[in-house]
Amino acid sequence: MKRDKEACHCNNVTYGMIEDAIRAGANTLEEIQNMIGAGKCCGKCKDFLAFLIRDMKEEIDKR
Ligand code: FES
Repeated sequence: MKRDKEACHCNNVTYGMIEDAIRAGANTLEEIQNMIGAGKCCGKCKDFLAFLIRDMKEEIDKR
């Protein structure tokens, strides 16, 4: 995973920021939104963020 790749362009939220938020205890899209502001502007990234969060949680749980 490229940590500096952008997942939410409106708020410049990167994959790494989302991973860190999940590791800090965020479990849902809503929690990620409240923690780091991802998906809180145009909302176009929300479906993708939900997919990304699920995928990252699976990866983190495997380790
Ligand atoms: S791209 Fe994420 S809120 Fe617009």
